[in-house]
Amino acid sequence: MSVTARKVETLRWRDGKLDMIDQRVLPAVFEYLSYDSAAGVAEGIRSMVVRGAPAIGVAAAYGLALEASRLQGSSENEFRQGLETGIELLAASRPTAVNLFWALNRVRRVWSGLSGLGNAAVAVRLLDEAHEMLAEDIRINRAMGAFGASLLPDGARVLTHCNAGALATAGWGTALGVFRSAVEAGKKISVIADETRPFLQGARLTAWEMVQENIPVTLITDNMAGFMMSRGEIDAVMVGTDRVAANGDVANKIGTYMVAVLAKRHSIPFYVACPLSTIDLTVPDGSAIPIEERAPEEVLGFRENQWAAQGVSVRNPAFDVTPAELVTALITERGIIYNPSSESLSALFRSEP
Ligand code: MRU
Repeated sequence: MSVTARKVETLRWRDGKLDMIDQRVLPAVFEYLSYDSAAGVAEGIRSMVVRGAPAIGVAAAYGLALEASRLQGSSENEFRQGLETGIELLAASRPTAVNLFWALNRVRRVWSGLSGLGNAAVAVRLLDEAHEMLAEDIRINRAMGAFGASLLPDGARVLTHCNAGALATAGWGTALGVFRSAVEAGKKISVIADETRPFLQGARLTAWEMVQENIPVTLITDNMAGFMMSRGEIDAVMVGTDRVAANGDVANKIGTYMVAVLAKRHSIPFYVACPLSTIDLTVPDGSAIPIEERAPEEVLGFRENQWAAQGVSVRNPAFDVTPAELVTALITERGIIYNPSSESLSALFRSEP
């Protein structure tokens, strides 16, 4: 694994524990929190210490490995019950990003294949799998980065929404990984980051990542994107995703749909960087994707600074769905899928090696 791929170590294994950068306090404070149980990791995911679809998936895999290690001295029955409870807690932490469930299914399959092995050996094997998932995520992001970079002309000014960077993955990033790969390939690109209300992943996390790497970045509030597009100041949109339905509809951070509509209006390509683990063929279209509704406090203000009138009613859906017809292309680790559809997505999985 190259050093640059892990410049930002969102998740790291230290002294038998999982360390996660506390993304709630970035960029003011850079600190790691340490976890040693599935319940702890589930709470870290729920409370947004770690966020971003691929990062959540890898964190969950470590969560189960930690639980196995913690319970290895228990009876066979307690161990099995404990891991089942761990999986339940992790699965209940956040509903929208399918990578969480994809990762839990994967580690469950590994565990199921180990019948007859002692608890300690199961714990070792689950930890190996989590390490492999972390390394694999970075390889996948690198592959998507190379495909995606080919879509960006030299000098492109690219809008992104939320944070689909190293912080949202095991490293490199999906949408921001494309920017990193384009820069690595010698292209001059500049990033326009939507601030991404209400949790401010764009202002706090994307801007921070790009500043760290000296990739030119301009921060705008979410309601400025249309103006910038109308003035010819945006050449492409590149976002990540939390779940893509079988027909190509894309769930991503709330506000993404608005950007996609604007991009269509202005004939600007709208790209989605999407590892295969984010495609969910079990949901036919975007209307079946569960959308997380978060606490009203996030909309009423930010942290202790609450600016809205007490007593006002609030909606706080954390994600929205962009219909496939607004998506120019999905960028996967296996190549670029233009005009995603049920046909093209099922063909992608039929061709799985
Ligand atoms: O609520 P978050 O911060 O977990 O939402 C994250 C996003 O919407 C990202 O765009 C998505 O997970 C893709 S991350 C590579």
